Formats: sequence, structure tokens, C-alpha cells
Amino acid sequence: MFNFQGKTVVITGASGGIAVSCIEKLYQAGAQLLLTDIQLPALQQLAARLDPSAQRILTLAQDVADSAQADAVMQVAAERFGGIDILIPCAGLYRACALKEMSDQEWSKVTAVNLDGVFYSIRAAIPYLHQGGAIVNVTSMAGHKGSYHHGHYAASKGAVLNLTRTLAMELAPHIRVNNVSPGLIDTPMIQALMQEKGEQLLAQTPLHRLGRADEVADAILYLASDFASFITGETLHVNGGLYIAS
Ligand SMILES: NC(=O)c1ccc[n+]([C@@H]2O[C@H](COP(=O)([O-])OP(=O)(O)OC[C@H]3O[C@@H](n4cnc5c(N)ncnc54)[C@H](O)[C@@H]3O)[C@@H](O)[C@H]2O)c1
Repeated sequence: MFNFQGKTVVITGASGGIAVSCIEKLYQAGAQLLLTDIQLPALQQLAARLDPSAQRILTLAQDVADSAQADAVMQVAAERFGGIDILIPCAGLYRACALKEMSDQEWSKVTAVNLDGVFYSIRAAIPYLHQGGAIVNVTSMAGHKGSYHHGHYAASKGAVLNLTRTLAMELAPHIRVNNVSPGLIDTPMIQALMQEKGEQLLAQTPLHRLGRADEVADAILYLASDFASFITGETLHVNGGLYIAS
């Protein structure tokens, strides 16, 4: 359905469950991809599987919490592919800790990936974004409702919601900026949570199951595509109804 022929897409956190599904769909739809993650080997295996001749996929190690690395990655995208059409900052860190016990280091570690990392990647990409381009941020239901024992995660995801709205105004009319806000999606990120209270959470979800990574990827690709050409500053929730029901 989607056509991303000739489009250059940069994805951070590209070894993660949701990102991998985006990458498979974007590659099938013709995109060229610059993929980064702090864990490079898994990413290299994915690139070798999808694009053995390395014509359309380039992989790089990147810690999104380091602004200099973001600058370097976006420069490579410009040199190798001539600019950027779509940016999907997908890296995320989800860790449990009660706020009253949270150290400065724990707070900073999580907000540095989930908030600073998004800011650094977007700021570094802006000079190279083509007219008609799109940014799709990946926030979370936690950013709307809070999340018990995940205060740093919820605060950083809530901040990204407002960063998105602000950027949508600042980058208009040339670049659209939107959010996808997943609920509970079956990736490594929520394994511990599901072990602790999975049954209760599924019972609360009107569709009575976890979301799949490919269902979030479809929402991300939609907002990145021309099908969403008049949509900016918005949030698309993907949560099986958990947001309205809980
Ligand atoms: N899975 C869910 O239920 C869910 C729900 C809401 C939001 N999200 C968001 O979706 C996005 C993707 O999550 P996922 O479920 O695919 O999780 P995941 O754990 O499978 O992927 C996260 C990726 O981020 C990478 N990463 C972590 N720290 C990094 C750093 N400092 N620099 C670069 N990369 C780093 C990890 O290596 C991993 O590949 C995240 O932003 C997450 O917060 C996920």
C-alpha cells in the first residue's frame, strides 16, 4: 500500500521490536534506510538479511544520548543519501523504579534516551530534511496517563508529546511532525511488566491482547506517508482501547 520509493529514512533504536517492523515495511516499500542503535550486531544481521548487497541500508552505532553522535549520523545520511525525508527517533528505555527511590543517575539515564535523544536527533536532522519531509516520534500511553513506578519514562514521553506539537509549528509548512503513542506492544521492552501484571492489563484492554509491532509500524508509516499529507502536530494512539478503558 505504501510507496517510499527513493525516500531516505533515518531510524534510531533500530534494533528494537517496533523499529524492525518499520524497517521491513519501509524496505519493501522502496525506501533507503540509515539505521542506528546502541546494539550494532543485531542491526547488521537485519541489514544483511534484507539488503545483502548493501545498496539501500546503512547501519551505524549510535548512543542517542550523545548529541555529537546525532550530528555525525545525520551528516552521514546527507553524504550517503543526499539528505533525509523521514526521521523516526525510535530508541527508548523503559525501567521500573519508584520515584522516592530514584537516584539522579537513574532519572538522567532514562530521560537522556527518551527525551534528550529525540531532541538531539531531530535538531541534527533539521538542516538535511527535504521539503515535504516528515518526523514521526514514538511516545507512549505513559506520556498521557503517567505510569506507576516509571516516572522518568512517563515524564520523558509526555515531554516528547509537547516537543512534537512545538516542532510541528516551527517546521511548518515544509516538514510535518507527529506522534504515534503505543499502549502495550509485544516487544522485549515490556516483558518484565507482563510477567508482573500481564493478566490484569490484558483484562483491562478492550481488544484483550497485546498489540503487535507491525500494528504500530503501520501507524508510523501512515503518518510518514503522503496519506497523512495534511496531518501535523497530532498523535495516533495504538493501544487496543486500553487508553479509554483504564
Ligand atoms: N513496547 C511497548 O509496549 C511500547 C509502548 C509504548 C511506547 N513504546 C516505545 O516504542 C519505542 C520502541 O520500543 P520497542 O518496544 O521496540 O522496544 P525495544 O526495547 O525492543 O527497542 C528499543 C531500542 O532502543 C535501543 N536503545 C536503548 N538505549 C539506546 C541508546 N542510548 N541509544 C540508541 N539506542 C538505544 C535499544 O537497543 C533497542 O534496540 C520506544 O521509544 C518505546 O519507548 C513501546
